[in-house]
Parts: sequence; structure tokens; C-alpha cells
Amino acid sequence: MNDLAGKHIVLGLTGGIACYKAAELCRSLIKEGATVQVVMTEAAQQFITAVTMQALSGRPVSGSQWDARETNNMAHINLSREADAILIAPCSADFMAKLAQGRADDLLSLLCLARPLEKVPLLLAPAMNREMWVHPATRRNATQLVADGATVLEVGTGDQACGEIGDGRMLEPNELVEDLVAFFQPKLLAGHHVVVTAGPTYEAIDPVRGITNLSSGKMGFAIARAAREAGARVTLVAGPAHLPTPRGVQRIDVKSAADMLAATVTAAADATVFVATAAVADWRAAQSAGQKIKKDGSGRAPTLELVENDDILATIAQSPRARAAELFCVGFAAESEDLLANAQAKRLRKGVPLLVGNIGPATFGRDDNTLLLVRADGVESLSRAPKLDLARKLMAACAQQMSQQP
Ligand code: CTP
Repeated sequence: MNDLAGKHIVLGLTGGIACYKAAELCRSLIKEGATVQVVMTEAAQQFITAVTMQALSGRPVSGSQWDARETNNMAHINLSREADAILIAPCSADFMAKLAQGRADDLLSLLCLARPLEKVPLLLAPAMNREMWVHPATRRNATQLVADGATVLEVGTGDQACGEIGDGRMLEPNELVEDLVAFFQPKLLAGHHVVVTAGPTYEAIDPVRGITNLSSGKMGFAIARAAREAGARVTLVAGPAHLPTPRGVQRIDVKSAADMLAATVTAAADATVFVATAAVADWRAAQSAGQKIKKDGSGRAPTLELVENDDILATIAQSPRARAAELFCVGFAAESEDLLANAQAKRLRKGVPLLVGNIGPATFGRDDNTLLLVRADGVESLSRAPKLDLARKLMAACAQQMSQQP
């Protein structure tokens, strides 16, 4: 993906062992299409060299406000004016204190203070020992920085370089990139709670066998990420899918359709949007055997009696809150032919305002897809694109359709 194409990021490094992660972060930002100007404090240069950061960013590193290379000798103005965002990673406790006080005795703090507040966002990725992170002074500084318009990103938890265990690790480079990409997305679903079902379900026949399908969960996970990026609180009810949880998304893992229904009903109680992407198994074994079913030597296969699973989407779509238009329901249709007619019929059968049609065999397991958005008043097709792009478009379409509801 090129989610940061056209973005110019000032990447600030302050003194901390997490500087070693800044090298990978710089590479990842560039891979996402950004241009990166690295600015390092003197303390950061104790942990990683400017040579490394220059080689990775493809630009000389800035380190001093007295840098004579700047023709106007105003590095702090030049650097802050051309940035789409300033990301300080790692941001030390000392640097947070400095920013909170508005001090400006080195190039990085100077350019942060000089940045046009409305135009150039400042994101901080704190990195410090767990005691420093919970110290009242750091808490106070973090609160002040947020009040002053900065975004203080989360910290990771776990082993620390000092040998202690706790909160205060810098987020991993891929997590920081995900947060930065999300930061730039329009917050079309701020204040919403979006519930998404994703992946296949697994219906046990006996302890070692079951009925499932080839859904990878990629579309549903992309929708959960896109909804989160759009500012929503997101609950992802996932069948057995081997995918990482998108950042900031609450994931509830389930196996069977019955488990998925129960988890979804609970999660949807205060949801405002429900998106059913899961490929729910239509049938389950009438009785799941307690022990492995053995061959009986007769050469005949056992007869498997199947019963139909409850329809999760239809159940939620018929709930009082959905009927009162407090919960906007979106269904998916995985078809193998005649997409438009099948999707239109399915929209009516499920009783949802928006049904998204796609061709099952053309999407399962793939990273891209094409979608057909079917509403009461017409259809719209989204041409082939990565699933995350489509998910963002779908979330925008939901926000728009909800805003037009009576
Ligand atoms: N769905 C659901 N619970 C089920 C079956 C389907 O929530 N037990 C949802 C899916 O998540 C999807 C929509 O209903 O949003 C349509 O799923 P699909 O498998 O295309 O259709 P079915 O309802 O199973 O109908 P058919 O098999 O006849 O195409």
C-alpha cells in the first residue's frame, strides 16, 4: 500500500534506547510512500548515528539550529513549514517535559514550538522506563501536551531494556505506521460503535473434524481497521482467521455460528453500525460427537444430519434498535453468479439498508476485490482495489447513507 504517498514527515529522534527502532520506522514510512526528514537531538545521537538515518531517509539529518547549510539559517521554520506531520519517535520523558513547557533550546523542540498549530500535527511516541512513564510529572506533561494539541500515542508493554517489565516501551515500527496512517484518515465515524463479523465459522462434527469454509477474514479485518481509522470504536467478532488484530480494535474470537451470534448480539447492544462480512456456515451437525467418530469396518460412511444455523445478520437487522434506525446494518453477499439480482434479493430478504455483493471465488483469500453496493434506490460499483481501500470507501458510504436517513 502507499498510504502515506505525498506526505512529508519530520521524524524526530530523542535520547532513548528505542532509537534502534527508528531505523526500521524510517524505512517503513518510506515504503508507505512518505518522504522523511530526520531531526535528531544530541542525546539521540548517543544511541544511533546520523549516518544510518541519512542512509535510510535519503536526506542529510538535521541536528542543530545553527546549521549553516540552511541559506536563511532558519532550520526550525523551514523544517516545520514543509511537514505534513511531525512524529517524535522515540519521545523521551525529558523531551515531553520540554515540550510541555514550551522550551526550545535545541532544533527539534524549537521546530515543534515554531510549527503552525492548525496545519502541522505533532505526534509523540513515548519511550521510557515504566517508573518514568507512570511518574506524576510525566502524567502531568502528557495531559498538558494533549491539551496543547499534540497526539500522545500509546506505549507498548513488556520487557524493557533496563530489565524491568511494564508500560513504557515504544510501539513497534509497524504499529506506529498504522497509527500515523489512521491519523490522516477523515474521522467520518467519530462517536460510532461499529461491530463487524469476519472470517469463517467452524462447526464441530466431532473433536477433530468440522465444517468450515475458505473465507480468510481479510475483508472483515480491513473493514474493522477502516472503521477504527474513521474514528469509531470497533468490536470485531472473528471466526477462526489467522490475521493480526487491527490496532485499537477489540477482537472477540469465536468458533461456531452459535458463538458468533451470541457475541454479536452482546456487542451490538450499543452499536450504531453492524457489518456482517463473516462467511457463517449455513449448517452445523445436529449433534457434535463427544469422541472421534471411528470407521466401523463396514465400508459405509456414517450419515451426518445437519441443521441450519441462525442467521446472524437477519437477527440483528430485525432487532428493535435496527428497526428504529439506531443501528445501521450492512450485509455482504458472496455469490458465484448473477451478482446483481442475487444481491438485490438478499438485501430485501435480510432487511438491511445496504448490501454489498461480491463474487465468492474471486475474493476468498485475495488481497483485492470488487464490490457492488446495493441500496433501495440504486447500485454503485467499486472497482478492483486492495481490500483496505474498498473498506475505507465502504465506511465512507455508510457514513453518508446514515447522514441521509430520515
Ligand atoms: N449471514 C449471517 N448468518 C448466517 C448466514 C449469513 O450473518 N447464518 C450473513 C453474512 O455475514 C452476509 C449475509 O448474511 O452478510 C449473506 O451471507 P451469504 O452466505 O451470502 O448468504 P446466505 O444468507 O447464506 O444465503 P445463500 O447461502 O442462500 O446465498
